[in-house]
Amino acid sequence: MNSPRFDVISIFPEYMQPLSLSLVGKAQEKSLIEINVTDLRDFAEGLHKSVDDTPYGGGAGMVMSPEPWAQAIDSLSDDPEGNYELIVLTPAGKKFDQAMAYELATKEHLIFACGRYEGIDYRVTEHFRSKRNFTVREISIGDYVLNGGEVAALVILEAIIRLIPGVIGNPASLEEESHSLSDESAEQLVEYPSYTKPAMWRELEVPSVLLSGNHGEIARWRMEQSKARTKKLSE
Ligand code: ADE
Repeated sequence: MNSPRFDVISIFPEYMQPLSLSLVGKAQEKSLIEINVTDLRDFAEGLHKSVDDTPYGGGAGMVMSPEPWAQAIDSLSDDPEGNYELIVLTPAGKKFDQAMAYELATKEHLIFACGRYEGIDYRVTEHFRSKRNFTVREISIGDYVLNGGEVAALVILEAIIRLIPGVIGNPASLEEESHSLSDESAEQLVEYPSYTKPAMWRELEVPSVLLSGNHGEIARWRMEQSKARTKKLSE
């Protein structure tokens, strides 16, 4: 299989520069993944290369026009054999979580549509939903409103790409993370607190059980801590 491909469409392609850094940047250098950023404005018409207009029905703000979006997406999905997932970033979407990250990490080609203003004309979502080789998802990264989908795309990309085989140097850390998710019966617990050297720092000691060498005790302590932290979050 080809390496997974990620396209991002935005009127601010520079927003995606962090993707050239760190593990995600290295994953591209190693050809484990391919990331491509498209400037929506390249598909805008007219002197002003306008990509938005006033909303039908009235109201504040501007709505992104459908045609530049459709042309941009068409230009990235011209393989008749291809299967495409269009991800529309919107606070009205389904809340992104780790289970969704695992699912998206198995896809061959994701296209992220980063809208600005009051969002993208909804017919773009409807149009691509009606296509045989497209799956369309509307995704939110949380219950707050950003100025656009770019930061949301960065968040989702980072969560997905680190799950792709070979991207993380030590796959054992992924193993540990995945346990609570793959076990249907387990409650979803947050991580236990971590410590490193020195054992005494600014008069604070590392919990002595972690220095004991007793792996059973350590595992038990960590589980208790995870449970206590998880409970505290729901208070
Ligand atoms: N665009 C604006 N706010 C957003 C959010 N919370 N999640 C995804 N896309 C967005």
